[in-house]
Amino acid sequence: MDKSARPLAAVILAAGKGTRMKSERAKVLHEVCGRPLAFYPVRAALSLDCSPAVVVVGHQAAEVERELEALFGTQLRFAEQKEQLGTGHAVLCAKAALKGFADTGSILILAGDVPLLKTETLQLLVQAKARTGAELALLTIRPESPTGYGRIVRDSRGEVQRIVEEKDASASEKQIGEVNASIYLADAGFLWKALAAVTRSNAQGEFYLTDIVGAAAEEARAGNGAAPVAVEADENEVSGVNDKAQLAWSSAQLRERQNARLMRDGVVMIDPQVTYVDEGVEVGGDTVLEPMVSLRGKTRVGRGVEIGQGCVVVDSEIADGAKLLPYSHVEGAEVGPLAIVGPFARLRPGAQLAERAHVGNFVELKKTFLGKGSKANHLAYLGDAVIGEGCNIGAGTITCNYDGVNKHTTTIEDGAFIGSDSQLVAPLTIGRGAYVGTGTTVREDVPAGSLAVSAGKQRNIEGWVEKKAPKKKASKA
Ligand code: UD1
Ligand code: MG
Repeated sequence: MDKSARPLAAVILAAGKGTRMKSERAKVLHEVCGRPLAFYPVRAALSLDCSPAVVVVGHQAAEVERELEALFGTQLRFAEQKEQLGTGHAVLCAKAALKGFADTGSILILAGDVPLLKTETLQLLVQAKARTGAELALLTIRPESPTGYGRIVRDSRGEVQRIVEEKDASASEKQIGEVNASIYLADAGFLWKALAAVTRSNAQGEFYLTDIVGAAAEEARAGNGAAPVAVEADENEVSGVNDKAQLAWSSAQLRERQNARLMRDGVVMIDPQVTYVDEGVEVGGDTVLEPMVSLRGKTRVGRGVEIGQGCVVVDSEIADGAKLLPYSHVEGAEVGPLAIVGPFARLRPGAQLAERAHVGNFVELKKTFLGKGSKANHLAYLGDAVIGEGCNIGAGTITCNYDGVNKHTTTIEDGAFIGSDSQLVAPLTIGRGAYVGTGTTVREDVPAGSLAVSAGKQRNIEGWVEKKAPKKKASKA
């Protein structure tokens, strides 16, 4: 921001219930690309260095506050609007939180449900206001259908006069195609004065924020400053989310934008329409994302990684050159460089794969470190285990980590070989280079270099089939 510019504060309106969402959850907490709706306008405000930025909360105030605080920390202030008496009342509720902010500063007002709003568009608003010297600038749109929106009433010279809400509009006003996007930039001194004069004498009995537009026009007519300035914006960009169809639509729009950015940065997407990357996820160049991949939460994917069809990766780190083969589920895990996972593998929180480790089909890892080059290629459960380098974990191996009360650790040292279908009853250490014979239930430590077997000697009973095996009954004719 230009240092000579006026100080800028923001008020983000997020108190409404969002009745049309037909939901138990407050509207602004519904997720778009992994973040609550309100995240996006708040981020847009912060990108203009608005300080302070005040979020007006009301419906499910505590939850909204908690979620936004988790995302933005101390950058935000919150103001509560206990009763939702209208948008003008909502902005007034932020006044105390803006105490100390200069009357000569400007206040950006945004709705909490416009996820597609871009910083550049807000900058246009700042510029238009600075250029004209108006006390108030606002974004307008010309949607395909203006129904439901507040209409922008202009005079014969084209100056903005006021906004009339749908419910208060005359038949001829309803014909106006230019409508209010509900995004404003106002001089603080003007705003507080104008809001103090707003009444509830309208069809909805609410304090309309839109009335400040009429107030600014009146001041201009009285010779005090310029008429309110309107900046026309793209309808899609400023459209609010009011129901779940619009939520899905906005998510798709945002996804398209973000996927395009990732591809420009060198990520390969076989079909970006069905590739789901949450806001904030990092993906390195030359990484390939196959269809139906979901990368969620705090996930970071390195360069040259292959993520196969249908993989879901949550809060995980995937290092350079790793491969996740199709339909693997990875959560809270770290996958080392050139490691291979799947197909159909499950890495649960605390799974850590070192460089070139392999985890194959139907293998589940939880809170387990799998050392460099070690392999667990088929059908295993490895929980609370520390596995060294170059180990081979046979098909069907199970760490029995839970005794019904506590979890215990299994330690498998470098180079150990665990035969198929073995149960390792923790706590337990299998020494360096030791072998566990197939089908062994290991209950005691196995020293380095030894072989553990627990099955008795095999006995063959000759001729048993002929003499004792159950006979099939002769079928009735
Ligand atoms: C508002 C505008 C309308 C504009 C439209 C654009 C008014 C009176 N009307 O109408 O001109 O065309 O937005 O989408 O402002 N909110 C509160 N507290 C309240 C009421 C609302 O915090 O008491 C918040 C809502 O959570 C929402 C935003 O303000 O984020 C807008 O409220 P909403 O009820 O959707 O206003 P509209 O009727 O759509
Ligand atoms: Mg609305």
